[in-house]
Amino acid sequence: MDAASMGSSLTKVLLSEEQILARLEELAGQIWADYAGKDLLLVGVLKGAVLVMADLMRAMPGTVRMDWMAVSSYGSGTKSSGVVRIIKDLDTDITDKHVLVVEDIIDSGLTLSWIMANLSSRKPASLEICALLRKPEVAKVKIDVKYVGFDIPNEFVVGYGLDYAEDYRNLRCIGTLSPSVYS
Ligand code: PRP
Repeated sequence: MDAASMGSSLTKVLLSEEQILARLEELAGQIWADYAGKDLLLVGVLKGAVLVMADLMRAMPGTVRMDWMAVSSYGSGTKSSGVVRIIKDLDTDITDKHVLVVEDIIDSGLTLSWIMANLSSRKPASLEICALLRKPEVAKVKIDVKYVGFDIPNEFVVGYGLDYAEDYRNLRCIGTLSPSVYS
């Protein structure tokens, strides 16, 4: 689905498909170089990270493994509460493995803070984060993101894995959703 199919539901295109893919190529190269000679496990957080994972791992010049977690945030509405329940755990034992968590967006950072604490208790050899998007709100939480695609303004964005009520994940670009859709 492209931006034109969204009509007036999309206020603006924040990042085009080309911009996203070019940045993921850069990040993949950087990650590949940083983990040279090490076994790297990419851990995606469902569902938003599916498209980031697909393009990031395909941009890597050699084989790399992936695993997935699904979590649910307790609390009401669209805001994370920071209290997280594991819906699907990893298939892999990550003890002594080099783990890179792949996320689509860090908003409040609460979900990722919890995931990092949980994964770190399993004693991986290393544990880092790659997030395609980061919102300014996350500055309030102490969270070290090694690889960031883009810092974006505090707007409601959809596309490229990001949803509103499960819709628009298949939009090729990332854009700002018109308030008329959700208000
Ligand atoms: C989104 C996103 C992150 C989280 C970020 O997931 O993928 O996991 O919210 O928010 P936070 O930084 O404020 O905690 P969501 O719970 O919407 O699930 P989804 O990936 O299935 O869309």
